[in-house]
Amino acid sequence: MATGTDPDVLLEVRGLHTRFRTDGGEIPAVDGVDLTIRSGRTLCVVGESGCGKSVTARSILQLVEPPGRVTGGQVLLHAGGSSGAAAAPPSAEPLDLAALDPKGRDIRRVRGRDVSMIFQEPMASLSLVHRVGNQIGEAIRVHNPVSKKEARRITVRLLGQVGIPNPERLVDVYPFQLSGGMRQRVMIAMALSCEPRLLIADEPTTALDVTTQAQILDLLAGLQRDHGMAIMFITHDMGVVAEIADDVAVMYLGKVVERGSVDDVFHAPKHPYTRALLESVPRMGGPRRDRLPAIRGSVPDPADRPSGCVFRDRCDSFMPGLCDTVEPPTVETGGSQVRCLLYGGAEQAPTAPRAGAADRADPDPRPRKEAADVDAD
Ligand SMILES: Nc1ncnc2c1ncn2[C@@H]1O[C@H](COP(=O)(O)OP(=O)(O)OP(=O)(O)O)[C@@H](O)[C@H]1O
Ligand SMILES: [Mg+2]
Repeated sequence: MATGTDPDVLLEVRGLHTRFRTDGGEIPAVDGVDLTIRSGRTLCVVGESGCGKSVTARSILQLVEPPGRVTGGQVLLHAGGSSGAAAAPPSAEPLDLAALDPKGRDIRRVRGRDVSMIFQEPMASLSLVHRVGNQIGEAIRVHNPVSKKEARRITVRLLGQVGIPNPERLVDVYPFQLSGGMRQRVMIAMALSCEPRLLIADEPTTALDVTTQAQILDLLAGLQRDHGMAIMFITHDMGVVAEIADDVAVMYLGKVVERGSVDDVFHAPKHPYTRALLESVPRMGGPRRDRLPAIRGSVPDPADRPSGCVFRDRCDSFMPGLCDTVEPPTVETGGSQVRCLLYGGAEQAPTAPRAGAADRADPDPRPRKEAADVDAD
C-alpha cells in the first residue's frame, strides 16, 4: 500500500520479523508482517490463537522478551495525529521504532506518550505493591508537567470513565484488592492517561462482561472522535470487529494473509482463510444452521511451517505443485491486499506456470469445512 504521501498514516509496519530462539530451533513468530495504521481509525487484527498477533503488537513497541527478538523490518512512526505536532513537525522523517534500542530512552519516550498498549494479561503492566492511583498518576507525570494533585484529579476522572465505581475511594486500593475485570479497567485507564496517538489494545475486553465491554468500546470511540487517536485492536470477536473496525488485518502463522477496509474484507473476503473465519461465526440474518462450520485441522507449529503457502494444508482451493512450492506474494485485488496464489504470484512456480490460476478464484474458492460445535477460533 503506497503510504508515503498519505498524511493520515500514523504507523507503518514493513516486513517485520520476530523470532524466538528455543532448544528446538528458531521460531519465526512474526514472519514479514506489513500493516498500516491511520490517525483517527481503528485497525482490527484477527486470526486464530498462536498466529502472532500479540508478538506483532509487542514487537511494534520493542517489548518482546528474550529469547524473542525483532530480527528485521521497519516500524515507522510518522508525525501528526492528536499530539503529534508536539512530537515532530509534519515534514519530519518518520521514526523507525524497530531501529531503536529496546531499553533506550527514545523508545521509552514513545511508549506511553505516542503509543500506549493494553496487554492481554492485565497484570503485565500493573505493580502489585503500589496503589492504583499512584501508578496511573506516575504515568501521567512522566509525560506531563502536572502537580501530584492534578495527576490524582485526572486519575479519578479516568477511573470513572472506564467504569470503576466510586473512583475517589478505589484510587487508593492496590491491584490485588480488585477483581480481574476491575484490573483490566485500571490498565485501560493507565494506557489512556497520556492521550496516546496510537493505542494498541490486545484483547482488552475479553475478560469483561458485555455491558462493561460496550462501555469501554464507547469510551475508545469517544477518545478517537475527540483526539483523533488511532487504535490497533486485537480480538477474536468478529462482532466487535464489525462494530469498531475501519480496517482489518487477518493473520495466519505469523503473516498477514489479507488486509483492507472492513467493508472489503468482511463483505468480499478473498483469502480462503478469511472466508473460513467469517463462516465459522454466527451471523444475524444468515442461514439457520444447527452447527457452525469450523476450519478443519489446526494452525501448524510455527517451528515446522509448511513450504509454499502456510494455509495450504487446511485449504480446499489447494493447487498441487503451486501452493506447496510458491510462497504467495502480497497482491492487490478488489481493494484488499491478499497473499493467495488464486489472485496472483503463481507464475513464480518452478514447474510450468498455470496462467489460469487466477481464474480459479471464480466463482467461489471456499475452503471445505467440517461441521463442529466450535467458536470462531
Ligand atoms: N516466549 C516464547 N517463546 C517461544 N515462542 C513463543 C513465545 N511467545 C510466543 N511464541 C511463539 O509465537 C507464536 C505467536 O504467539 P502470539 O502470542 O503472538 O499469538 P496470538 O496470535 O496472540 O495468540 P492468542 O490469540 O492465543 O493470544 C506462538 O505460537 C509461539 O510459537
Ligand atoms: Mg495474543
